[in-house]
Amino acid sequence: MSEYSGYILAEWENYHAHPERFQASLRAAAGREVSRVLDVGCGAGQELLPFVQRLGARGVGVDVSPEAVEIARSQFAKEGCDGRVEFYCSPAETLPFTNNTFEVVMCRLALPYVGNAQALSEMARVLRPGGLLILKIHHLRYYSRRLWAALRRAEIRNAASIARIIISGTVYHLTGRQPTRGLKPREVFQTRWKLNRMFARLGLDVRGELQNSDSNARTPVLLIEKVTSAGMLRSL
Ligand SMILES: C[S@@+](CC[C@H](N)C(=O)[O-])C[C@H]1O[C@@H](n2cnc3c(N)ncnc32)[C@H](O)[C@@H]1O
Repeated sequence: MSEYSGYILAEWENYHAHPERFQASLRAAAGREVSRVLDVGCGAGQELLPFVQRLGARGVGVDVSPEAVEIARSQFAKEGCDGRVEFYCSPAETLPFTNNTFEVVMCRLALPYVGNAQALSEMARVLRPGGLLILKIHHLRYYSRRLWAALRRAEIRNAASIARIIISGTVYHLTGRQPTRGLKPREVFQTRWKLNRMFARLGLDVRGELQNSDSNARTPVLLIEKVTSAGMLRSL
């Protein structure tokens, strides 16, 4: 098994070890009709479970990794809900869905690795007006803490690679341009300051944070509503 497969399977197991995460997602969606839910950069796709198993929604997961798609399909088959979920190999920056398709879109820790502006614009596009975006990010505080930890342990290579992420994120925040390596966007941190500016352009509004064992100030889970369609905003 590759290191990556081991990682996303560990995330699946960790989700099952913390049932309060399942309940917190249901609370976040309380009072909403959820018939279609999308997980962007889904890994094994565990975040879809409450919506598919409890709310009877159709779940869709996309990930750029074919390995993730294969694992997600197999995990959901074992859960007995393979007819109600679909997984596609697709980049977050060009989602293969029509506008306003989903009542809930989730993205757990994929944003740091993708083209932020394109991926958020795509998530807003496929989300229905009034729909909910559940977005878990890596805040600057997450990387600074890791950097200090690496420096204290004298892990110089590790510290250098974290420092590169902080530099890329700073460039991105100051210039609006996410640095790339070849065609791939470089990993960047997120802040509420930067996100709020992008959200305003996309007709998205932060309504709160999900409070559970998966959420803290370094890796918060933002609850965001699409207040109007991006198309309408563009035509104003
Ligand atoms: C940290 S993992 C999180 C996986 C899953 N969301 C979870 O919480 O377990 C980040 C995921 O984003 C995916 N990813 C990276 N770049 C992507 C892109 N451009 N488009 C779609 N998925 C991407 C990776 O393959 C990986 O599965």
